[in-house]
Amino acid sequence: MKEYALNMHKLPVGVLGASGYAGHELCRLADRHPHFELVFAAAHSRAGETLRLPGRDLTLAPVDAVPLADAAIVFSALPHGASALWVARAQAAGAKVIDLSSDLRPGQGDQAMPDIDAPYGLPELNRDAIRTAAVVANPGCYPTATLLGLMPLVTRDLLVPGSPVIVDAASGVTGAGNSPRVDLLFGEVTEDFRAYGVGNTHRHLGEMRATLDAHGADVDLLFTPHLLPVARGILATITVTLREPLADPAALYRTHYAVEPFVEIATAPPRLRDVVHRNAVRIFVTPVQHVRTPTYQIFVAIDNLVKGAAGQAIQNANLLADFDETTGLPL
Ligand SMILES: NC(=O)c1ccc[n+]([C@@H]2O[C@H](COP(=O)([O-])OP(=O)(O)OC[C@H]3O[C@@H](n4cnc5c(N)ncnc54)[C@H](OP(=O)(O)O)[C@@H]3O)[C@@H](O)[C@H]2O)c1
Repeated sequence: MKEYALNMHKLPVGVLGASGYAGHELCRLADRHPHFELVFAAAHSRAGETLRLPGRDLTLAPVDAVPLADAAIVFSALPHGASALWVARAQAAGAKVIDLSSDLRPGQGDQAMPDIDAPYGLPELNRDAIRTAAVVANPGCYPTATLLGLMPLVTRDLLVPGSPVIVDAASGVTGAGNSPRVDLLFGEVTEDFRAYGVGNTHRHLGEMRATLDAHGADVDLLFTPHLLPVARGILATITVTLREPLADPAALYRTHYAVEPFVEIATAPPRLRDVVHRNAVRIFVTPVQHVRTPTYQIFVAIDNLVKGAAGQAIQNANLLADFDETTGLPL
């Protein structure tokens, strides 16, 4: 650890993938965190370029030249497939690691990954395991919204076994990262709205199914993502069938999340404007009229780059470092 960081009683942290959307957001949050010192910000093809942070500019270091051992916590915001190797290197250098990629998350099938034990980093579900972890697998953005919307029902065993859980979710374009792609050009996305990953094929399904399975939910998850022509934000609409009608669904959600600093139970469907640039999860639950079985809709809004990525990673880092979970995060 750097001497100056220790002298200032700040914990040195480093970011890999700082030229990407999630990594840049992490650098912004880490740099304004009262107890963290950002000691490196690394890039791959854009090493040497300038990263603009509020109040200062940083030069992006080449990822294979960063002093991993200088950081007490390393955030890896690298693409899946490339990230796990760097997680292993950072761990070998003595750092705790938060991996924002899907490499170490549950439900990734038989992809060959280093043998790293990493609890799933959804604090509202797994806080105790995160506190003592060496490596944390930060959840995906869509799974964060979907799982937080479902957990109050899953943990009470309220979902009808074998029933479909239908998740229609839309994300802003930063969800796809900042590598150039023709289908993500402004002219292709603006004033349009389209589904992708159709036919229940999106790569986040494994992570969501594995987590629901681990909590005893016996349901068919049907997930359809959509591309929304805004920069950031996810709105998920979840439709479920319950074993019995709920007297007061909002009260159930309020009770479930009573101690959660970032979960808000709303009295109207959430909007992206309620959550962008915040680490908030805003949820509204309502019964569905004119159907024969007890059916409910849950609406969940998050910022994909904050609660869906960098903000959640800082929340996990606060747990690892034994700081208050909300420290340095935009409520
Ligand atoms: N975007 C989101 O909303 C979101 C939400 C949750 C989780 N995540 C996850 O966070 C990670 C980063 O996502 P992103 O959207 O920020 O992606 P991105 O904008 O495409 O950024 C990717 C970053 O990884 C670096 N990189 C690419 N290939 C590399 C390699 N082979 N070795 C080392 N570094 C490499 C890039 O560096 P150069 O640009 O310098 O080449 C860039 O800094 C992904 O695993 C993603 O699944 C993203």
